[in-house]
Amino acid sequence: MCGIIGYVGKRDGLSILLKGLERLEYRGYDSSGIAILQNKTIKYVKKAGKVEELKSSLKQSPLMGKVGIAHTRWATHGEPNDINSHPHLDITGKIALVHNGIIENYQDLKKILYEENINCVSDTDSEVLVQLISLIYNKSNKLSFQDSVRAALKEVVGAYGIVVICSDFPEMVISARMGSPLVLGLGDDEYFIASDASPIIEHTRDVIYLDDGEMAVVNDNKYYISNINSKKIISKVVDSIDLSIQEIEKGEFSHFMLKEIFDQKHSITDTMRGRLNFKDGTTFLGGIIDQIESIKSASRIYITACGTSWHAGLIGKHLIEYYARIPVHVEYASEFRYRNAIIDNDTVLLAISQSGETADTLAAIKKGKNKGALVLGICNVVGSSISRVTDAGIYTHAGPEIGVASTKAFTAQVTVLIMLALKLGRKMGIAKTKGKKIIQSLNKISKDVAYILNSYEDIKKVAEKTSKAENFLYLGRGINFPVALEGALKLKEISYIHAEGYPAAEMKHGPIALIDEKMPVVILAPHDNTFLKILSNIQEVKSRKGIIITITDRPNSELTNLSDYVLIVPKTHQHVFPITSSIILQILAFELALLKGCNVDKPRNLAKSVTVE
Ligand code: G6P
Repeated sequence: MCGIIGYVGKRDGLSILLKGLERLEYRGYDSSGIAILQNKTIKYVKKAGKVEELKSSLKQSPLMGKVGIAHTRWATHGEPNDINSHPHLDITGKIALVHNGIIENYQDLKKILYEENINCVSDTDSEVLVQLISLIYNKSNKLSFQDSVRAALKEVVGAYGIVVICSDFPEMVISARMGSPLVLGLGDDEYFIASDASPIIEHTRDVIYLDDGEMAVVNDNKYYISNINSKKIISKVVDSIDLSIQEIEKGEFSHFMLKEIFDQKHSITDTMRGRLNFKDGTTFLGGIIDQIESIKSASRIYITACGTSWHAGLIGKHLIEYYARIPVHVEYASEFRYRNAIIDNDTVLLAISQSGETADTLAAIKKGKNKGALVLGICNVVGSSISRVTDAGIYTHAGPEIGVASTKAFTAQVTVLIMLALKLGRKMGIAKTKGKKIIQSLNKISKDVAYILNSYEDIKKVAEKTSKAENFLYLGRGINFPVALEGALKLKEISYIHAEGYPAAEMKHGPIALIDEKMPVVILAPHDNTFLKILSNIQEVKSRKGIIITITDRPNSELTNLSDYVLIVPKTHQHVFPITSSIILQILAFELALLKGCNVDKPRNLAKSVTVE
């Protein structure tokens, strides 16, 4: 959460930083701000609201300079207003800082500052840090500015990615990382530092990913990276980013979410590229090739994740247990990190994350590692923290996902989980023919997705007919129960309509009490071994006059008679149905949110990358 960016170079800093903020806005969008070194003094503008508000203010009073920092916020401490927005300045006005993370001991630090007659003006934890840097820098005539930053950071308990400037050093930008991501971009006589690579790629492809405990100092057109505590210089690999600008822009689409829903025509195929082995009915997963034997002999697998990725994990449990017969437990990372789970050398911990930066998932990984588990990752963002701290992993290759509600990353995660389960299953002895069957369905998925996207208007009509509903219920059985959860989450996230996902048969133990003629019930009803049971559940909803929206995989007269609306995905393997059916649920949520006039790409209170616990 929160996006930060810094620039030092020869060009106009304002336009580079503002464009960068727009790219980072998916990380938080309740307020933003910018500080620029202008004639050796720090000038700044901060505004509550989206980056658009900041841009309007800057039109009236533009800032000029070639060194600056900027921030787009997702509030933790202190409401989103102008004062609490970043950058924060110290009492002398000579130092400015942007921060992503949480300073847990900020109250203790505030007391130290108070004793020195330094009062913070904002309610944030972040301001404390800039005041502390200032106190150390101004009190000690022995410490350089860099070392004052180091000394202040040593006092911090919590997580941070920071960028700091000081008017005494008009060519210098300092950044440091502990828990919150930072990427240093190396341009021609210019440098960029940002929470991710998206604001950097139009300027340079050469980047260095900072690791926890590292500080990057750019000064006089040179940079060095060192350990925050020991000051030891660290030699880092320069990576080249393989991302195109088109991938991070909306193009012809009105919303990123819509673009990403349509991207699924090719993104699922991108996930599978070079990984399907038709001849042997298995898959090839290069990233974990050396770990397959350890996974096979594991006593248990924990899948850990948050949000949508957790739903993918639930589907993964069904698949891995079905094909490979290894016990799988799926845990919210925020719970797993604090509970006394049984983890030993025979445990595999599989972390799933689109961003690869989710704080709770990272903490769960650390726990697994400390207790001796083999830790694997399924990540979308190449070079992300999770992809770097896991022992091995599989990239989803879905391309950048910018809409806050996850769509193509989810279908890519499920695709990877199918491939993983199949790989393990074939190693454990399931028949080649069984493997070939699911591969055949995966192989035609682009066509299936195209078919679903062609039926967009039918799905939109269902949204129009149900847009007045205040509650929705989503039902599924077996592998489709997590799809119901995901459908309900999509709707909640972007339309603010209350929705619940339930295992269809559990409905009678509670949610059935809610059903009346105003309640749309979305039911996943593929023709698999649960079909007859689902029909009975549909009957139960019908008897209570619920509005029945059925998603199935071929026309069926009984379904048609019972349902108010039937939406059909092409016939596919029972384990591929969660992918295709979830695309219908994405479109339904998107259209309902539009009808309600919601900001689909930036839903209130949410952020794409949750880097605080
Ligand atoms: C946030 C996002 C969700 C996402 C979740 C986990 O809540 O809004 O879309 O599913 O974080 O994120 P991750 O990047 O770890 O998959």
